[in-house]
Amino acid sequence: MFQTQKDRIESLSSVAMLPAQEALAILPGKFPGKTIFSTSFSWEDQVITHLIAAQKSEIKLFTLDTGRLFEETLYVWNRTREQYDVEITAYHPDHILLESFISEKGPNSFYESVENRKACCYIRKVEPLQRAIAGNELWITGLRAEHSPNRHDLPQIEWDENNNIIKYHPLLHWTTEELKAFIHSNGVPYNTLHDKGFVSIGCAPCTRAIREGEDFRAGRWWWEESANKECGLHTHS
Ligand code: ADX
Ligand code: SF4
Repeated sequence: MFQTQKDRIESLSSVAMLPAQEALAILPGKFPGKTIFSTSFSWEDQVITHLIAAQKSEIKLFTLDTGRLFEETLYVWNRTREQYDVEITAYHPDHILLESFISEKGPNSFYESVENRKACCYIRKVEPLQRAIAGNELWITGLRAEHSPNRHDLPQIEWDENNNIIKYHPLLHWTTEELKAFIHSNGVPYNTLHDKGFVSIGCAPCTRAIREGEDFRAGRWWWEESANKECGLHTHS
């Protein structure tokens, strides 16, 4: 038995360092029925879905439907269902929390203060995430080092203290060029906003395209000044 989560992570790290396809074939077997993958239908997540579908592994896929996603995101969600034989469970915000928040603050209060924005992200993303990962042991994400300085030094596999789960990032060291090449040579459906300058894509009212030379995440909550803009899904980054 492992004495600490640290020991457990260490014992898994050599597998996690394997190429994504190989690691994805082995790791879920170490957590039978308790491996989940969160997809936002970004190009990272589409590559991971493609790899998971190809090997028919036991990984459970889910998405957080915030209710404010782009039409293009909903479209690629549907295309993914059509192309791959995978079930994608949708988690929605708790309607009681959402109804009272919107009734009190209005539909777009995230532009008025960071506090409102974080409350909206909590209701639409974090609380549903907590329900989605409850009872599972391994959480696969599409985080990449290139996304931001905060993600640059992430370990490929890590213990998430807040959510009490092991996180694994199979594409952590992939470059954007590698992602694009994989998507095009394998016919992977992708969000067409990526062709229009959108690099990191979240909710429609809170995401814009970036300009040449801008940070990858500059288009997320662009009206906020902080360099460390996160919604709370990934608390370290
Ligand atoms: S966020 O924290 O800023 O919103 P980001 O958009 O970079 O996250 O995505 C990083 C990873 O978080 C994705 O690869 C995916 O695993 C997960 N993720 C982000 N948004 C969602 C979502 N709406 N549904 C499911 N997973 C998501
Ligand atoms: Fe709300 Fe914007 Fe956060 Fe989406 S990204 S949950 S709309 S504040």
